[in-house]
Amino acid sequence: MKVWTNDLSIGNAQIDREHMRLIEIYNELVEIIKFKKERKDFSNILSKMTEYALIHFKGEEKYMKELSYPKFAEHKNHHKDYILKVSKYNMEISGANPPVPEDIIKFLDKWWINHILIIDRDYENYKKSIKSNLIYRSFDIFRSL
Ligand SMILES: [Fe+2]
Repeated sequence: MKVWTNDLSIGNAQIDREHMRLIEIYNELVEIIKFKKERKDFSNILSKMTEYALIHFKGEEKYMKELSYPKFAEHKNHHKDYILKVSKYNMEISGANPPVPEDIIKFLDKWWINHILIIDRDYENYKKSIKSNLIYRSFDIFRSL
C-alpha cells in the first residue's frame, strides 16, 4: 500500500481521494519506522490516521444509508472493529509491552487493501446496479470536490 494506483479505485472519485489521503498518512507511519523515530511520533501519526478514518467512515456510512445498501450494518461493523483495534494498539504503544510497529503497519496494510478492494467496492457496485445518482458528500472539508 505504498502509493495509490488505479487498481485501488472503487469507481467514485471523492471516495478515492479520501483513500489516497489515508495512504499518505500510512506512508508517514512507514517513514517513522524507516528513520527510527520515537514511539510518540508513531503514536501521533497513528492517531491522525484514526481521526481521518473516522471522518471517512462517517461519510461512507451516511452514503450507504442513503443508498439503502443491504450490507450497511455489516460494513459499519468492519469500521467499528477497525477503530477498536487501532485504538487498542495506540493505547498499548505507551505501555510496558508495546506492540511491534511493523506489526501495526502490516495490519493496516492488509486491512485497508481488503477493505477498499472488497468491502468498499461492493457498495459502489450496488449503487451502479440500482442505477442510483446519489452523490457522495464528504465530511472532509479540505478534500470535498
Ligand atoms: Fe468502508
